[in-house]
Order: sequence, then C-alpha cells, then structure tokens
Amino acid sequence: MTDPPKMTDASPVAWGADGVPRSPRFDDVYYSSAGGLDEARSVFLDGCDLPDAWAGRSRFVVGELGFGTGLNILALLDLWRRTRPDGAHLHVFSVEAFPMPAGDAHRALAVWPELADLAARLLAQWPRRARGFHRLAFVDLGVTLDLAIMDAAEALDAWSGQADAWFLDGFSPSRNPEMWSPDVLAGVARRSAPGARIGTFTVAGAVRRGLEAHGFQVEKKPGFAAKRERLEARAPDAPVSPAPRAPSAAIVGGGIAGASLVRAFQALGVRPLLVEAVAPGAGASGNDAALVMPRLDAGSGPIGALYAQALARAADLYDQASDAVIAHGAVQTEVEPKDAGRFDRIAQSELFEIGAVERLAPASVSERLGETIAMGGLGFRDARVVEPAMALGDWLRAADCIVAQVAAIEPVGDAWRLVDGEGGEIARADIVCLACGLEAARLAPDLPLAALRGQVSMAVAAEPVAVIGGGYAIPTRRGLLFGATHDRNDASAEVRPEDHRRNLDLLATVLPALAGQLNPADLTGRASLRAVTPDFLPLAGPLAAPGLFVLSGLGSRGFCAAPLLAEQVAALALGAPSPLPAPLAEIVHPGRFAARRNRRLMRSAKVQVAAPT
Ligand SMILES: Cc1cc2nc3c(=O)[nH]c(=O)nc-3n(C[C@H](O)[C@H](O)[C@H](O)COP(=O)(O)OP(=O)(O)OC[C@H]3O[C@@H](n4cnc5c(N)ncnc54)[C@H](O)[C@@H]3O)c2cc1C
Ligand SMILES: C[S@@+](CC[C@H](N)C(=O)[O-])C[C@H]1O[C@@H](n2cnc3c(N)ncnc32)[C@H](O)[C@@H]1O
Repeated sequence: MTDPPKMTDASPVAWGADGVPRSPRFDDVYYSSAGGLDEARSVFLDGCDLPDAWAGRSRFVVGELGFGTGLNILALLDLWRRTRPDGAHLHVFSVEAFPMPAGDAHRALAVWPELADLAARLLAQWPRRARGFHRLAFVDLGVTLDLAIMDAAEALDAWSGQADAWFLDGFSPSRNPEMWSPDVLAGVARRSAPGARIGTFTVAGAVRRGLEAHGFQVEKKPGFAAKRERLEARAPDAPVSPAPRAPSAAIVGGGIAGASLVRAFQALGVRPLLVEAVAPGAGASGNDAALVMPRLDAGSGPIGALYAQALARAADLYDQASDAVIAHGAVQTEVEPKDAGRFDRIAQSELFEIGAVERLAPASVSERLGETIAMGGLGFRDARVVEPAMALGDWLRAADCIVAQVAAIEPVGDAWRLVDGEGGEIARADIVCLACGLEAARLAPDLPLAALRGQVSMAVAAEPVAVIGGGYAIPTRRGLLFGATHDRNDASAEVRPEDHRRNLDLLATVLPALAGQLNPADLTGRASLRAVTPDFLPLAGPLAAPGLFVLSGLGSRGFCAAPLLAEQVAALALGAPSPLPAPLAEIVHPGRFAARRNRRLMRSAKVQVAAPT
C-alpha cells in the first residue's frame, strides 16, 4: 500500500502539447494519444464483453482501478444508455488515490462531443477531493457510481461489493507498481463475482501470473493502436440462477429516515410503500428548519469519517431537492479550551475537501455572525440549513403512502405483514424497514433505543447565519430557530416556557447580543423526541430476521446522517453494493451491541477456563 495520499490543492495533471493529460508523478499518460475513447471501448468495454455480459441482468456491477478523468466510466455509461436491459441497474465502483480537479477533467473530456451531455452531468457532481467514498448518481439511467478516494489496496479492503467486470487501468505496471501489486490483484479476486471479466491494457507477466494464481483464465488479445497486445481475463463461472423478481418494500415512519429510505429505494429502482402513523414530519423531523452538520467530537477515525461522508452526501441531495435549502454554510464556535487544538486538526483533516472547512479566528467569527464573539471557530462550507417539510415533500412526492399506525410486524412465508392495533393487515412486503424513531424498539424489541426529549424555540427576528456551539441558531423561512434542550427520561412533547428560558441561555453562548434582544414571552416552540443508542451512533442495517431492516437512533444529527445511511440500508436490502466503507458500515450495524456482548462473554469464558482452580 502506498502512503495515504496527501490531498493538496495542486492538480496531479500536466498537459502535453498533444492535449493528452499526463501524470508527472508517474510519468505516464492518462489515456492513449491515439484516441482515449476508442481505447476505452476496445480495452475495457470489449475486453469485458460488454454489453453482452449484462444482457438479461437486473443488476450489473463494474469495478475500476484508476478513475482519472472519468473517461472509461463515461464510455461505459454511453454504452449502458444504449443497451441497458429493461429496468436494470448499473453499479460502478471506481478508485482514485490522486483525484484531479473538475477543471482538468473538463478539459480532458471536452475532446469528445458525443459524450458532452454525460460529461456535463458527471462534472456537475464531480466528487470532492477528500479521502473516503463518494456517491454520484444518474438516476434516470439507473446508474450509481461510488468513487473511493484512497489507495487501491485500501479501497478494495473497504468495499463490500462484488464486481461482474473490472477495468484495471493504473498507469503502466513499471511506473505505478502499487496499482498492480499482489495485494491489489488479491483484492480484485476477492471482490469479483463468479464469472467476472477483467479488461486491461497491460500484458505484463506479473499481472498475468497474478490473475492466473487467483483462478482467472487469462487471454492475450490484439492491443489498441501501437500496443501489440492487451489482456482479457475471466473468473470461473457459477451456475446461472434465474434473475430474482424485484422485491416489494415497506417503510414504517415518514420522518427524515423514512423519506430518505423512500428516495434511496427509488434510486435503486424499487418503489416502496410508506406507512406513517400521523403525517410525514409528525415526529422529530417536523421542525421549521434543521441544521445539517456532522458530529465533530470523533477525530479522524471511523466516526469522523462517517459524518464527513454523510455531510457531503446530504448536502448534494438537499441541494437537488426543490426548495429544501434555506441556507448554505455554518459556523461552529469553540466551547471549551481544548476545542482550539481539536478545531485545528479538523480543519486539516483529509476527510473534508481542502477549503471546505476553514479555521476561523475570533475576528472572522464575529464578522460572519455580525456580533462580537470571543471564541474562534470553524466555517463549514458544506453545512446546510434545510426546511424539513420541503425535503420530505420532495422525496415522498412519488411515494405510495398509507396513514396507519403499525402495531406489529409478523412473518408470513418469506415476507412480512404489517398489522394495526386491531390485528388487521395494513400491508405485506418482502422487505420492511423500521424508520419510526423510538417506536422501532417496540416493533423490534431488542433495539437499544432511548428517548431524549428536545425543545426548540422560534422567534420572528432577523435570520442569523447558522451557528452552533453550546447551542445552535439557524434561519427559518420566517425568522430564527434556536435551542435545543436535551432531557432524558422525559417522553413528553409539550412546549414548556422554562425550556424557552433554557434555550435563551444556550443562544447566549453563541449569539449573546441577539439573545439579549429576545423576550421569552414572544417565543413559540416545538418539542419532540430524539431516539438515541448507547453509543450515540445510528442503527442502519439488517436485523436478525431476513428482510427486516432499521434506520433509527439518529440522535441530534438525523438530517446529516439519514440521507447516506438510507442508501446503505436500501443497498443492503436489495443486494446492491454498499455506499459505505466496511469499517463505517460496522459502526452503524444494528447487531454491534449483541456482537460486543458476545465478545465480552467469550472473553470472560476464556478467563474462567484459564483461571487456576
Ligand atoms: C428539538 C430538536 C431539534 C433538532 N434539531 C436538529 C437539527 O437541527 N439537525 C439535525 O440533523 N437533527 C436535529 N434533531 C434530530 C432530528 O430531528 C432527528 O435525528 C430526526 O428527526 C430523526 O428522524 P426519524 O425519521 O428517525 O424520526 P422521526 O422524525 O421521529 O420520524 C418517525 C416517524 O415515524 C412515525 N411512526 C412512529 N411510530 C409509528 C408506527 N408504529 N407506525 C407508523 N408510523 C410510525 C411517526 O409518526 C414519525 O413521523 C433535532 C431533534 C430535536 C428533538
Ligand atoms: C491511466 S490513469 C486512469 C485513467 C482513467 N481510467 C480515465 O478514464 O481517465 C491511472 C489512474 O490511477 C491512479 N492511481 C495511481 N496509483 C494509484 C493507487 N495506488 N491507488 C489508486 N489510484 C491510483 C492515478 O492517479 C490515475 O488517475
């Protein structure tokens, strides 16, 4: 594995006189000067027997090592849009350790007018240059693209999908050996579906032998342009099983978790039924505005990475939802002395794109917030303030929705019955996702969820710049929302005057002058219950019973976490590749508490066996 790439503002690309992008680091070209698009079609598309390989398939997965300009993937999408099997989905996983800025990709791709429309769509969602997985989508084409910005060997360890075809497109093995190492070839083999095809331009002996050692049948074919030969390889086939019928899915709960799930299932080609007890937004997701910000208390380990990825995905999806975004960007202020060092580290973290998180001195914080603030802070470019009703409305617009309170979920054959309080059947589905906040623990009793009551206060006042510190204050479409209280062992949703006073105290920690101008008697409010888990991380994934899934425990950051975690749940439910690196999927897996309990039991059993009698 190479050292983790250091993200810099500098582009990894240099431009030759022939107009072909080159890598000074590897002293090689991104694609052939004899014609990059023709080369992509010959080496990778023909090399993987496309489109024949996806004929009759409802899902097809392509992996690529070396995303570069995105040219191979555009050639793939261009073929897919012309030959896509009816209703089928294409999942692409591509890896890039040295991402180029969109400007360079734009310059490279401008050479092919026939790809102009696809190139424009790719460039419009060009991934942030930050370490981690990034999801892009072409929903109308049924295409999902997960891009791993990291070293190839690390990415293959982190990805949990299985590719039906691989484009191996590192620079030449002599110049870029890390892309062709035994570790990388083993990763490709591990993450290959039965019968997977591989296309590559190199016939280097080590690559051929490496693939053969993993059971691939390797064949040399005539190469592109001046290259004498290229390689095709194929993994052993498995018996062909009939394409499964599309499953039916039901989502219980119409808050941000449920709406995100509806959107995510639809993006993967399945139209779920939503069952909501009252109305979308009736629970914690119904405030006038919500701040979309990551948890920052977790450093740059998996929790920090999870929230950084979630923020990027949430920002992109809210931006696409009509009229959902009230404001872009937010300021996080220091609260405790140790925050200064912590914030320095966060601003330099490679989890966020360079420039997306800015370290702010007190003077800059004051300038942004419009009043004198003694603390420094962080400016988050990708934070959003959203109007929940608009986001929910957009994502639920095309959904089938039943208003009913689910009292129980019962297995019937391979499916599930949703049952009301009188035992009447509300609906049946192959897949059921519990997205009903705390109520998920009543429908699946082992879920470790607890209530954390919260009240926000609202005032008709100047709309502030979004700020979070000890408390938070954000603009709504009518004024200002701030708070919020956090109370355990209290499941009441009544609005309390004393909580308005507590919220004013919180507001004074971030915007003291504004807090001084507000009269508690003029405030309105809304109270609801957060669902929290013992480790304050969400539950996103399968339950022990097949076909049953949960997205809950979103705590105080549901609007940041839900859009990405819903994609995780939908992917797991439909057998599609996960958008999360494996270590991140683990920390939100609903089975983690039971697994930890089992590990503790095993350890104590071992200690007892080992103890002298
Ligand atoms: C005061 C306060 C302020 C907050 N501010 C923010 C913020 O600014 N940013 C942020 O990211 N997060 C914020 N949060 C947290 C955020 O609101 C939650 O994380 C998020 O709303 C949880 O969404 P959910 O969909 O899981 O649950 P909910 O929004 O509670 O949705 C659950 C839905 O399920 C339905 N339901 C329940 N039981 C059943 C059943 N048996 N059958 C059918 N339907 C059922 C309910 O009617 C409800 O609509 C705040 C929370 C509070 C309390
Ligand atoms: C030949 S170019 C790929 C061209 C690309 N497929 C396209 O369509 O433009 C090889 C790519 O591999 C990337 N790369 C090199 N070493 C890597 C590594 N260790 N891990 C991941 N990517 C790497 C390079 O940055 C470069 O973008």
